[in-house]
Amino acid sequence: MSSLADRDYFTDSFVVKNPYAYFDAVRERAPIYCIPESGVVVVVGHDEALQVLSDTDHFSAVNSASGAGFPLPFEPEGDDLTSQIEANRDKFVAGRELIALDDNHHTFSRAIVSRLFVPSRLNASQGFMAKTADELIQTALAKGKAEFVQEINVPYTTLVIADLLDVPEADHKFFAEVFRNTDSSNLNQAERDVAVHSLIVLAKYFGPYVQDRRKAPRGDIVSELAIANYPDGSKPEESEIVRLASLLFAAGQDTTAKLIGNGVRYIVEEPGLQDRLRSDPSLLPDFVEEMLRIEGSSKVTARLARKATRLGDLDIPVGTRVMVSLAGANRDPRRWNEPNSFELNRPKIKEHLAFSRGAHACVGAQLARTEARVMFDRLLALTSKIDLDEEFHGPPGARTLEYEHNFILRGFAELHLKLTPA
Ligand code: HEM
Repeated sequence: MSSLADRDYFTDSFVVKNPYAYFDAVRERAPIYCIPESGVVVVVGHDEALQVLSDTDHFSAVNSASGAGFPLPFEPEGDDLTSQIEANRDKFVAGRELIALDDNHHTFSRAIVSRLFVPSRLNASQGFMAKTADELIQTALAKGKAEFVQEINVPYTTLVIADLLDVPEADHKFFAEVFRNTDSSNLNQAERDVAVHSLIVLAKYFGPYVQDRRKAPRGDIVSELAIANYPDGSKPEESEIVRLASLLFAAGQDTTAKLIGNGVRYIVEEPGLQDRLRSDPSLLPDFVEEMLRIEGSSKVTARLARKATRLGDLDIPVGTRVMVSLAGANRDPRRWNEPNSFELNRPKIKEHLAFSRGAHACVGAQLARTEARVMFDRLLALTSKIDLDEEFHGPPGARTLEYEHNFILRGFAELHLKLTPA
């Protein structure tokens, strides 16, 4: 019998709107489910997702940016695909970015970036975050309304990472434009080319920054990257540093902006929540964690079985593409009580998988948490009431909210708000 689980996750617009219902329908079949037509294995169970993400021996991350729907660009041969993967890396979307690397190359490159977002740097950046949020929100308050995504959220997340990487102010507008035209998660080849192109454009800009900072380091993140050594003391190629700097600039923007947008919708729609958070901002860190669980912005990632293995009751042949549903794991009823309900103060909330886990777990997680908390804090402090604008989204009970057509990320295309000043 046909069910929601039989729809095509990667292209079906109903599934884009209702990903949680899709993952629930898949989970009813099995927490590890093989789609018969494509052979793609979908993992929606919390423990099963952890198993895949922790197992770098059997699973390569080469397809993490391409997505599990992306066909293998080679015919698998033998019982270990490692050398075939290395020979074909360039055929995968962003196959040479940190997020897709394996083994020593990944360990070495990650060692360089994982020490950048230390608490002292994040604390120092909080003043800039609050000032930037205040300016953007005040501009909107003067009109009494805003399209939150483009007027507040995207400029906020772009300016925060630009400040941390010390990108010259004159270049900020240019970078914002590069991202506006980027959707790395569309299966359409022409749009994929644009997405890859944006990293190439960024690399052109970061090349000279890295050269400058190698000559005269000045305490910012790009300087630290420019003078970094690998754990064995060797020096990375300049191109490697440029690639890492560009990825840091790109990786944290859309994900964080979409998380914040999803959070604002809950603040506005969940009965009593905005008043509760406004009167007790100490609840905000917990609110951010529950948002990451219930509507975190990364719905899925992907892995490729480079060796045969077994997941639960299922044999996983070499060459199997695996879609790990972070959103599914975060609503697995075997792990979470009433998983589809929003609830503050959930026990062990940080066991959610919104930032993935294991070797590739998000290096910007603390930055994203801080950015989200500061934006929610300023938005609540500067307003006495926030509503969805009925002119665009309809009345309560009959809302229309459009999500971006994106199989990796969950976030609004537009979010129109009415804002009443404090
Ligand atoms: C709410 C915001 C964010 C979410 C939901 C998010 C989510 C993720 C996820 C799920 C992964 C791992 C994917 C996998 O296992 O295949 C990841 C990796 C990564 N993230 Fe984030 N991220 C966010 C913000 C950021 C920020 C602010 C930065 C940096 C400025 C960042 C930089 C990275 C990098 C460099 C990686 C690759 C790590 C590796 O492969 O070793 N992210 N992120």
